[in-house]
Amino acid sequence: MRTYNVGVVGATGMVGQRFLTILAKHPAFRVVALLASARSAGKTYAEAVGAKWAMQEPVPAQFKDMVVSDAEKDLDALAGKVDFVFCAVNMKKDEIRALEYRYAQHEIPVVSDNSAHRFTEDVPMVIPEINPEHIEVIAAQRKRLGTKRGFIAVKSNCSLQSYVPLLHPLKKYGIVNAAVCTYQAISGAGKTFDTMPEIVDNIIPYIGGEEEKSEQEPLKIWGEVKDGKIVPATAPSVTAQCLRVPVSDGHTAAVFVKFARKPSKEEILKAWAEFAGEPQRLALPSAPKQFIHYMEEDNRPQAKLDRMTENGMAICAGRLREDNMGIFDYKFIGLSHNTLRGAAGGAVLLAELLAEKGYFD
Ligand SMILES: NC(=O)c1ccc[n+]([C@@H]2O[C@H](COP(=O)([O-])OP(=O)(O)OC[C@H]3O[C@@H](n4cnc5c(N)ncnc54)[C@H](OP(=O)(O)O)[C@@H]3O)[C@@H](O)[C@H]2O)c1
Repeated sequence: MRTYNVGVVGATGMVGQRFLTILAKHPAFRVVALLASARSAGKTYAEAVGAKWAMQEPVPAQFKDMVVSDAEKDLDALAGKVDFVFCAVNMKKDEIRALEYRYAQHEIPVVSDNSAHRFTEDVPMVIPEINPEHIEVIAAQRKRLGTKRGFIAVKSNCSLQSYVPLLHPLKKYGIVNAAVCTYQAISGAGKTFDTMPEIVDNIIPYIGGEEEKSEQEPLKIWGEVKDGKIVPATAPSVTAQCLRVPVSDGHTAAVFVKFARKPSKEEILKAWAEFAGEPQRLALPSAPKQFIHYMEEDNRPQAKLDRMTENGMAICAGRLREDNMGIFDYKFIGLSHNTLRGAAGGAVLLAELLAEKGYFD
């Protein structure tokens, strides 16, 4: 893979910080521009991020003195300087939608962590191991936008990365339906224990918009490209409850699933062990070697112990067992790191796939 010049829009935020810790060591993506709101513009990155820096490791040295640009006003100066941008900003949805269109129309491809374009019909929403072929819809999007290089590609919501990758290899057994309860970390709300003290010794049983995303986004991911659009699948249906829990990083999912042709436990474990996608075949730099790690111990996976499996890019599973009540066929637990696989890391992996397929050239 050749070297690409990259901008990070929303560089001072929780996901933006994750981008920088990953990109500081990336073999092919070189960060040449940091962008955020007018509040941060003109300051060095160290000044702008200040006490908001929430990563365990310190601010990477190469970014400390870089001057932050205004994501809206400095766009003209950016065109020609970067091959593409990552985008993770906290703005109103219609503002994000407009901002991402402006970047694309300035011929700057956008790899986005935001939800604003997840349901735009010609914007691919990709988990690279599951639906890499959806990037083919970019040709139709470019045609609609009248661009040569510019386009928007998004990654899905973080919650579903703890269960969709585990359901996907089991689709061959005809998933009739599934129920999931997610236990989501506070970094998913851009928070730490300092900025979200109300979560200590507590569970909050509501995350605005999250259950809808958790139920609807899998259907787009399992959809197919037809006539320049992604037509969502109509099945299997997944019903979700999403809770915020006192965990810093790592979303856990308790999953229940019913099949048309019930597999044996061994068949499920084999399907998970053998499942590999395009990132593994292409040996993309951020791809986990083993996508799904099954843990035999009854008390695993645990967020604190297991979220960093394969640099936070693998999906962990455990406690696979039959549903003795016969309501569903099986129950199991999933875990994924919400700001690595579920946000910045997932977007970097998507960008690696797009780079490998020539979409930034
Ligand atoms: N946290 C997660 O696990 C996660 C997972 C998946 C997706 N996401 C999505 O990623 C996005 C960012 O989330 P986050 O948790 O990183 O939020 P955050 O910590 O609140 O960071 C928000 C970023 O947006 C910037 N920003 C705010 N208003 C702006 C404006 N008018 N123009 C340009 N930049 C502006 C901020 O810059 P200033 O510092 O200058 O204000 C900051 O860099 C959201 O859309 C979120 O839904 C988050």
